[in-house]
Amino acid sequence: MRLLRACLLLPLASLCLLAQAAAPDLETGKAINGTCAACHGADGKGGKHGEYPRLAGQHAKYIEYTLKSFRSRERVNIPMFPYTQERELSDQDIIDVAAYLAAIELPTTLPKFKDSDDALTRLTAVQRVMLIPRVDGDIDAGKTVYQARCATCHGDTGRGKRLIPMITGQYPTYLMRQMELFRAGERPHDEEKAGEGALKDLAPEALQNILAYLTTLQNLKDPE
Ligand code: HEC
Ligand code: HEC
Repeated sequence: MRLLRACLLLPLASLCLLAQAAAPDLETGKAINGTCAACHGADGKGGKHGEYPRLAGQHAKYIEYTLKSFRSRERVNIPMFPYTQERELSDQDIIDVAAYLAAIELPTTLPKFKDSDDALTRLTAVQRVMLIPRVDGDIDAGKTVYQARCATCHGDTGRGKRLIPMITGQYPTYLMRQMELFRAGERPHDEEKAGEGALKDLAPEALQNILAYLTTLQNLKDPE
């Protein structure tokens, strides 16, 4: 809205057209998400226990960046590669679908129902709840490592920001697979090379402990 008002006041109409082209259109984003839903679910909840990651509530900038990395094959994603090709997904489509997914809020607890709520309303609400079950691991040990090595970027509660993904509320099996890819040098983690950086020297048990700790943070709000 602010952009639109500025455009009405601004004499340089061409600049406004440029700016408007980059603004996300949530209706288009929703339509594009119809394709994504086959794997990631209609409300971006992901599924099959983390084979398909959650996208709902992930940061728009990170989703945009990731879709472009899939398109350029910097990050390998064989199932998604055909969907990310230019003729399928333009830069504007990426902006639209990323904004749509980022804005989906999935609750971690059931809402309180009113007596008048019918079965469908209740079912829909139950299906939207996204709470990752606790996984095995030493939560205190995970907290120590997470706060020392990960929190500077991913945030105290794992919510991330902009280009740094939210990792709280994501499937542990998916996150573990990504950490294995980072360590094998098959996916870039920030600017680290394989064998260096935040994941260096962490045994598989330490990674499992971090995942156990992350599942305890789902109901917290970011302190910021
Ligand atoms: C055929 C199934 C399939 C379809 C359709 C699909 N995806 Fe994916 N997507 C995957 C899989 C599998 C992964 C996980 C890849 C991995 O493990 O690295 C993934 C990963 C992602 C990620 C990375 C998430 C993260 O946290 O890094 C994003 C973003 C994403 N998909 C967005 C989309 C969007 C947007 C669409 C629709 C335009 C879409 N996907 C369509 C299968 C699919
Ligand atoms: C210097 C900043 C930084 C630090 C420190 C950091 N990360 Fe990351 N992390 C990132 C960025 C940036 C990405 C996105 C990488 C990409 O896709 O290019 C990422 C991605 C991830 C992902 C993949 C998430 C997804 O949705 O696919 C996991 C899992 C992860 N980090 C775990 C960790 C853990 C565990 C630690 C601590 C041991 C850690 N990170 C420390 C910046 C950081």
